[in-house]
Amino acid sequence: MRLDKFVCKSTELTRSDAIELIQNGAVTVNDAIVTDEKTQVHENNTVTLQGKRLSPRPFRYILMHKPAGTICSNIDEVYPSLFSATNIEHSEELHIAGRLDADTTGLVLITDDGHWSFNITTPTQHCEKVYRVGLSRPIRGDEAERFKQGILLQGESKPTLPAKLDVLSPQEVLLTITEGKFHQVKRMFSAVGNRVVALHRERIGEVLLDVDTGEWRHLNDEEIASFRS
Ligand code: URA
Repeated sequence: MRLDKFVCKSTELTRSDAIELIQNGAVTVNDAIVTDEKTQVHENNTVTLQGKRLSPRPFRYILMHKPAGTICSNIDEVYPSLFSATNIEHSEELHIAGRLDADTTGLVLITDDGHWSFNITTPTQHCEKVYRVGLSRPIRGDEAERFKQGILLQGESKPTLPAKLDVLSPQEVLLTITEGKFHQVKRMFSAVGNRVVALHRERIGEVLLDVDTGEWRHLNDEEIASFRS
C-alpha cells in the first residue's frame, strides 16, 4: 500500500497530516528516510514515524444491514452514507464489497482488505448473492428459464451469467446471481417486462443477514475464510 495510507492505518493522523510529515522527512522505511508519500510499502517493511515503529491496524470484516435511503459510499451525498448513523471507526478506510442502490435494503459486506472483497465481487469467483424481489406484476412463467439462459441487458455486450429464480408467490421471488452489474436485478426484470418495487439482499456466499436494520457486526473467522479462494 502507499506510504501515506500505511501511516494513516497505523495512527490517528489524517491523510493530509500524514503527507506533511512524510514530506518533512519524519518517516523512514527500512531505515531510510522516504519523502514521497506515494512510495509503495509492504506490511513486512519496517516503517517508523519520528523514531517510533508503526504497525497498521489489522484488516476489518463487517456485515451490515443497510437501511433504505442510504448510499453505499464513504461520504454523504444526496442520501446519507450507510456509515453515517453507525459508530464504526475510521470508516474512510473501508469499502463495500458489492454496492446496493439507495432504495435497496439488506446485507452488505464491508472491509479494508481489497484481495478479500475481490473474491466476492469478481464474477469469475461465482460468489452467490441472493435477493428477495417484490414485483409490480405477477410472474409470467418463462422468467426462470430466461434467467438461467442469460439475458442480454440494454447497453451490454454479453448476456448475464446463469441466474436462479425461486418463485415465492406471483409477485415475490428470490433471485440468485453471481455478478453485480449496475442495477442488475432491476434491469433483468425490466428485460422480461416487469418492474422491481422492493429489493432486499438476504445472502452473500454462505453469509446470511442476521442483524436488524442499521445494525452491524464483525464477521467470524469461518465467515471470513469462506470468501478466501
Ligand atoms: N441489483 C439492483 O438492481 N440493485 C441493487 O441494489 C442490487 C442489485
